[in-house]
Amino acid sequence: VKRIALLSGGGDCPGLNAVIRTITKTAIQKYGWEVIGYVFGYRGLYNNDYIELTLDKVEDIYKEGGTILYSSNKDNLFDYLVDDGHGGKVKKDVSDVGVANLKKDGVDVLVVLGGDGTLTSARDFSRKGVNVIGVPKTMDNDLASTDVTYGFMSAMSVGTEFIDRLQTTAKSHHRVILCELMGRDAGWITLYAGLAGNAGVCLIPEIPFTVENIAKAVKRRDEAGLPYTVIACAEGAKYADGTKVIGKIVEDSPDPVRLGGIAKQLEADLEKVIPDHEVRSVNPGHIIRGGDINAYDRILSIRYGVAAADLINEGKFGNVVTINHGEMGYTSLEEVIGAAKIGQQKHVDPKGELVMAAKAIGVSF
Ligand code: F6P
Repeated sequence: VKRIALLSGGGDCPGLNAVIRTITKTAIQKYGWEVIGYVFGYRGLYNNDYIELTLDKVEDIYKEGGTILYSSNKDNLFDYLVDDGHGGKVKKDVSDVGVANLKKDGVDVLVVLGGDGTLTSARDFSRKGVNVIGVPKTMDNDLASTDVTYGFMSAMSVGTEFIDRLQTTAKSHHRVILCELMGRDAGWITLYAGLAGNAGVCLIPEIPFTVENIAKAVKRRDEAGLPYTVIACAEGAKYADGTKVIGKIVEDSPDPVRLGGIAKQLEADLEKVIPDHEVRSVNPGHIIRGGDINAYDRILSIRYGVAAADLINEGKFGNVVTINHGEMGYTSLEEVIGAAKIGQQKHVDPKGELVMAAKAIGVSF
């Protein structure tokens, strides 16, 4: 190996920069390889648009959120929008252009930092004979193949701070405040931030809820001398009939999640069943994945990055770096993508220890 290339795809996630920095430093200092980074993910690979990654460029990005390589969550070279020659656009498999560019740029190994969509393309490039290593990215922490992904702890910490701050107004006005948190179809961020921030109710996709149950929980707290409740509500939370908190208000939208939550419908539903409390809803949205990354994710990013470089050195291509039971390891891209299919992501166990612990201290679901 003489030269490696990195790219980041999908939504930005705390820790991406720290991983880019770690791989670059390890590649240059430990192994003597050159490092380049394609910008805007696979689009950069298609357009042959890259920057040289050097020690001075990466030194200070250990705690910066986002990605200095930029990212795109749309561009898939196996199904890429190109001009049709008649003024329109058509989708085409242009992955051969990517493979040719890697050759032209003298890239021996492509390191892909991304979630399930980006890693699916990584698997497909691997099937075409490209030497690929994946480094899993998701602040949702829903990737089945690994215990914890970088970004989760940082986003969860910011979510916790939000809930902490909402306690103040809830308590002062005896209000019920809904705090909506990202996490797609998994409840990890909401459960962790909800527990850490002392939410009275956690609404997570894994445990469908009823407004009547929430009303009961609020009443129980009232009777216990706690006439205020902060509710941590996952963007993927569902009413018992399966309707999503978000879908219910923006169901006409072709892409409800993209509109950002707004638990307004739930706010209105709750006002009906707890007329003696004012109800408010707050949606920090992308704020939880922005800003500096926390100390835990800085260390995790170093571990993921060094393990990725070591895998390259060992020639173990076609794999994703993983962490299981505290040990760094790897799993094949084929297996990771198989397990990332809708419905097979890693979910909160409704009967698991964490939910039981939450219930033991009086948190309602
Ligand atoms: O997967 C990460 C995530 O932040 C989810 O929690 C959220 O549903 C989604 O991305 C938001 O995507 P976008 O930034 O494209 O609106």
